[in-house]
Amino acid sequence: MITTNVQLKVSQYTGIGARRMSGSPSKTPPPVSLPKGHPYLGLRDTWYLVCTSDELGDAPVAQRLLGEDLVLWRNGSGEPRLMSDYCPHRGARFSEGDVADGELQCRYHFWRFDDSGQCTSIPTQGGQCSLQARTKIESVYPVEEQAGYVWAWIGESEPVPLVLPIELTDPSFSSFPETVEWGTNWLLAFENLADIMHAPFLHNESLTLGSGIVEDRVKVISSDTGFRVERQNQKGVNFDWVEFELDGLIYTRLDIPYRPTLAGPGPDLRIIGFATPIDETHTMVHFPRCRQVEGWQRMLWRLIYRLRLRGTHLHVLNQDKEMLESMRSIPEAQRDEHLAQADKPVLHLRRTLKPMFDAQLAQLGPEWAGTAPLSGTKTAPAADDA
Ligand code: FES
Ligand SMILES: [Fe+2]
Repeated sequence: MITTNVQLKVSQYTGIGARRMSGSPSKTPPPVSLPKGHPYLGLRDTWYLVCTSDELGDAPVAQRLLGEDLVLWRNGSGEPRLMSDYCPHRGARFSEGDVADGELQCRYHFWRFDDSGQCTSIPTQGGQCSLQARTKIESVYPVEEQAGYVWAWIGESEPVPLVLPIELTDPSFSSFPETVEWGTNWLLAFENLADIMHAPFLHNESLTLGSGIVEDRVKVISSDTGFRVERQNQKGVNFDWVEFELDGLIYTRLDIPYRPTLAGPGPDLRIIGFATPIDETHTMVHFPRCRQVEGWQRMLWRLIYRLRLRGTHLHVLNQDKEMLESMRSIPEAQRDEHLAQADKPVLHLRRTLKPMFDAQLAQLGPEWAGTAPLSGTKTAPAADDA
């Protein structure tokens, strides 16, 4: 496939394709209708997984996160930086520009900015001047690069220390990053993970998720940093438990049983789940697939994963994607819902998040009160099952 850059160069020197390019649609997505900070756009003051380290090279990359258009780039030391994708000269997008001498350079008039967001040069004014000195990029967010991923603290307060799941930092685990974009809200993506009883139905034809009984009850057990969901009558057969971590970095942890004849020797597949909101109706879901295997067993699993398992795992993810996209939006999904006992974890997640929703709405002002209702959260919180 011919890339856009190659097309541009061919067009520049030969004119070939120029007419077609002039009619191509804009790459810039339309603006988001909800205000920054609305909970449907995501929880603030939280760490988010943005992308793998490999996905960020020398060129600036556009990233829409929590409804905000941002640019991710590497400074002169190769460290990632994240700031508004909006040039404070006349509003062009930095992600169309370059990194030059370790600074972000806008493509339109070559204004430059350092990695704190400070303007350092306005070429038409001879470089440094009083306008340059008082010009800064709107928002700059803390970023860290750890375990082969880029992480960003999206919020206004000082970041808490980034504590990653052990599966991404302990070398006895081997993992594959798996990232896909879903046309759904971030909360629906997390509710899908709390809803463990969907597995034996939606994924009933999968190699790993079709086993076990389908009639069961679920229980929710609180922890210091989140909660755990378990099936009452089945363990180690299917997607039978999930843990939610909600402290500074929101993620889930679950196991999928592996048969040795399917995946070689070793423990179950461990999946860590992150849902990074793009905007109200789009979410980047990251599901690193991890296994605690070493030596030849690790090599065998990695080979089998690449040759066979990856495709089937992505097939299962696409089944989730289809269901979630069919639900369209939070208000539409909750319009006339009827929750059963097996939906208790979904309700528990909503009740846990509701104070954060309310706090963010209060920040936006009284006119936004009640604009992010969470169905079923008005009654008292459900007591933990023993
Ligand atoms: S709009 Fe960015 S330099 Fe002019
Ligand atoms: Fe699923």
